[in-house]
Amino acid sequence: MNAPHSPSPLASVPMAPADPILGVTEAYVADQNPRKVNLGVGVYTDDQGKIPLLECVRHAESERLKSAAPRGYLPIDGLAAYDRAVQELVFGAQKQNVVTVQALGGTGGLKIGADFLRSIAKESGVWISEPSWENHRQLFEAAGFKVNSYPYYDAKTHGLDFAGMKQGLDALPAGSIVVLHACCHNPTGVDLTQEQWQAVLEIVSSRGLIPFLDLAYQGFAEGLDADAYAARLFSEAMSPVFLSSSFSKSFSLYGERVGALSVVTGSAEEAARVLSNLKRIVRTNYSNPPTHGGQIVATVLGNPQLKSLWDREVGGMRDRIKAMRKTLVDSIHKRVPGSDFKFVLSQRGMFSYSGLTRDQVRRLREEYSIYTIDTGRICVAALTTKNVEYVADAIASVIRG
Ligand code: LMR
Repeated sequence: MNAPHSPSPLASVPMAPADPILGVTEAYVADQNPRKVNLGVGVYTDDQGKIPLLECVRHAESERLKSAAPRGYLPIDGLAAYDRAVQELVFGAQKQNVVTVQALGGTGGLKIGADFLRSIAKESGVWISEPSWENHRQLFEAAGFKVNSYPYYDAKTHGLDFAGMKQGLDALPAGSIVVLHACCHNPTGVDLTQEQWQAVLEIVSSRGLIPFLDLAYQGFAEGLDADAYAARLFSEAMSPVFLSSSFSKSFSLYGERVGALSVVTGSAEEAARVLSNLKRIVRTNYSNPPTHGGQIVATVLGNPQLKSLWDREVGGMRDRIKAMRKTLVDSIHKRVPGSDFKFVLSQRGMFSYSGLTRDQVRRLREEYSIYTIDTGRICVAALTTKNVEYVADAIASVIRG
């Protein structure tokens, strides 16, 4: 108990700002308009507007239910079969010099990696793309780093400012930590070509930078292997490489928090030392990860039939997103013939950086109950044949002014 006159330490706690992404969902949920559409958070829905429960997940869950498995603790670094499966999927094979720990989604993988880096590279700065996923900055700052940005997106061309990016990376001090989106850049949907990745690798390795790849959308651009190109390129060429990965989107297991952190080290011996430290970070934060999601993913990836079913299901999601991009672009064009949203077709993954201004975003929300991120990022994976015309109408009206 506090002494009667000592103020509570809570009395002066300031109100923290709402999260720029999940805060939008909170506002959407509170909206009573039956036509409301949530294009804010990165969540895929099927054409009925529902978050799908994948068929491969259903199979794995029913096997698990039948086995009535006891609910013991997992090891600190997670289910061994899951960690192995992650390595195979991301790096193409299990590697002696790579450690993988199961984590609470991709965000959890980033945070374990950030905390570990802070303990071994205190003086380093973190560099994220301009723009980047809103949570990258806060997450690395919360781990104690100063966060800066390197050029990435060119608003004039709606494409990559590759010259700026190379120049930015080339000027960084050795030991800087560079966060790279391995595919389906969030928020822009603008990715590097294979040749551009090779050039970035050359700069990163020759300048002694530490790459931290964020792979949250494997399978959403071209396919499971194609989307792992950067991860495999970096892991085969250099160490250390940090990589966070996630199954939230690709398995439609958002709430199960299934992700991982992998660290590519210089040798099996180094890997063992790194792992021992990662385990301490996990143990002091949440002890060990939950079982269900990891078990489902390990079951699917460990069974060739279920894995190929999953591959097809991811392909179905990818194709539907591409079809929605096209419908949206055509529908806006029909309403505003002079408009040119064709750039949306070459963006990859769940998002489109639409170029809509903050004011247009506000009008979409206030006049149409269409929720997007303030930066103009739209989750095209939440468009459906039922809402796309309504969304196109609304966008046409706000761009006409
Ligand atoms: C997003 O960018 O919307 C997703 O990655 C979900 C999240 O946690 O922000």
